[in-house]
Amino acid sequence: MVFTGTKEELKQKAQKVLTKEIVAFIEKSLKDEHPNSLLIAVLHKVQEEFGYLSVESMDAVSILMQIPTAKISGVATFYHFFNLKKKGKYVISVCIGTACHVKGADKIVQKLEEELGIKLGETTKDALFTLEEARCLGTCALAPVIKINKDVHPQVTIDQIPKILETYFNKEKKIK
Ligand code: FES
Repeated sequence: MVFTGTKEELKQKAQKVLTKEIVAFIEKSLKDEHPNSLLIAVLHKVQEEFGYLSVESMDAVSILMQIPTAKISGVATFYHFFNLKKKGKYVISVCIGTACHVKGADKIVQKLEEELGIKLGETTKDALFTLEEARCLGTCALAPVIKINKDVHPQVTIDQIPKILETYFNKEKKIK
């Protein structure tokens, strides 16, 4: 448990960790006949807001929903769509579905690993990129496909990878 204090202090601390919208959503959920059944929806909201489920945010949900943290982390680790680690600003998902696999997705992964200096599942030290694999992205005719956040890059070749990454590096330069 990250927080200590009286019940009211704990509640206030928990509210500070989460956003007003999430706290309001939790309060609404608590009025439901089966608030525990809304835990997944609450965790989705937390992940949408912060990009992952930190120990602190799960503790805050535990306090506000009066659900043991062990149960919350059990749910968070059971469902693959919850992230327990902070991801990079740009999440690169390389499709490894059948069509993309046949068209050389493994070579695309290899090239991205080389260019970024990380392995699949890792995030670069500057927290800019996370490299992941994904199941069929639903655009098999355009295989091999990679997705960077919401941008879909079709028929990617190894030679295109540095240029694709450069566009994201350049975006960052413009922001700074
Ligand atoms: S297998 Fe890659 S998009 Fe379908």
